[in-house]
Amino acid sequence: MNVPFFRLDANGNELRYLREVLESGWLTSGERVLDFERAFAASVGARHAIAVNSCTAALHLACEAAGVGPGSEVLVPSLTFTATAEVVEYLGGRVRIVDVDPTTGLLTPHLLKQALDSHPSISCVMPVHFAGAPCRMLGTEQDPGIVDLCHARGISVVEDAAHAFPATYEGGKPVGSPIGATTCCFSFYANKTITTGEGGMVTTDDDAVAERMRRMRLHGIDRSTWDRHTRIGAAWEYDVIAAGYKYNLTDIAAAIGLAQLERAQEFRGARARLVEAYRERLGGIEALRLPPVHPTSSHHAWHLFVIRIDPASGIDRNRLIEKINDQGIGTSVHYKPLHRMTHWSKTALLEPSGYPNADDWYEHCLSLPLFPSMTPEEFESVCTAVESAVVECLDGAPRQ
Ligand SMILES: Cc1ncc(COP(=O)(O)O)c(C=O)c1O
Repeated sequence: MNVPFFRLDANGNELRYLREVLESGWLTSGERVLDFERAFAASVGARHAIAVNSCTAALHLACEAAGVGPGSEVLVPSLTFTATAEVVEYLGGRVRIVDVDPTTGLLTPHLLKQALDSHPSISCVMPVHFAGAPCRMLGTEQDPGIVDLCHARGISVVEDAAHAFPATYEGGKPVGSPIGATTCCFSFYANKTITTGEGGMVTTDDDAVAERMRRMRLHGIDRSTWDRHTRIGAAWEYDVIAAGYKYNLTDIAAAIGLAQLERAQEFRGARARLVEAYRERLGGIEALRLPPVHPTSSHHAWHLFVIRIDPASGIDRNRLIEKINDQGIGTSVHYKPLHRMTHWSKTALLEPSGYPNADDWYEHCLSLPLFPSMTPEEFESVCTAVESAVVECLDGAPRQ
């Protein structure tokens, strides 16, 4: 049986809401976007949610509003998608790449502190809630979290939560809710936990930051098109306060987003149950390491189920992927680290000691299918394929 890496579930109100938008005659950013923003803000408990056409746009706007510009040095973990880093360069800043925790793939307060102590010039930090697991943002006086460390030094924080909706930080606050002066960026790309095809959202509690991002999202114009359309008189009048971008979300996309948002918790529950089933079924395979059990005080969004090969098994990761794919099962790799990409290896500020944890992660990781509509038969096919591929790869593998 073939199992894709991801399959969309759009069996809720998507078609109904889309029809309403098409029949309304208003396709660009309007009432549906406002509804989507309100509903999203309420779901994470943020004061402002600003809808945009990608998480990349959200990250760009958030960094711009945080003051990243020529000469800024911005800390980005190596294990992420290139979008996290590229927005820094759009603004003329320099990316400083740091290593990640060997077991979670996340930026930790410990790694952050080391980097900040060695590089006091860092002015902004971009934690990535990789795979849907929230980084340790909040701590105590004795054991500070990422936000505590940054705030103590006046460093701004832009969270990359492309994978992390819906999720909660340790202590139970939703990712995207106010945890200090941070902005938090979400992705609604086609295979994310909820989707609008392409789309994103940025949340903040800071009124001035929200205002800046709202304006920069649409050319730096001081009024939205919807605002001008719905106001009687002076509809043509507007001012331009900066050279902004064209990052607004359409009502078409927001209609899909509203329907997906209604089912976000249901989707998360289904993915979390699949993760438990994977643990039971694959947990006994010695050559594999499953994702560490997440602290119970926070919620993992389970966007990705990344397994890793025990290096001692001698299994070649690419061969294992091939053997799984040969049986019709889709897989992926998250991620080839930034420091191994041609562009970032030339332009980013790199650690002379290298990135042993991100390298080890990359060389041994693969992601298995994890989507809410996976049937028991499909689950069975994935597990059987993984089991037999491991056996085949162990045959003749150079053991350590
Ligand atoms: C960690 C991370 N950050 C940012 C992005 C960019 O998201 P988008 O495609 O919505 O721009 C992605 C997309 O895959 C991602 O995985």
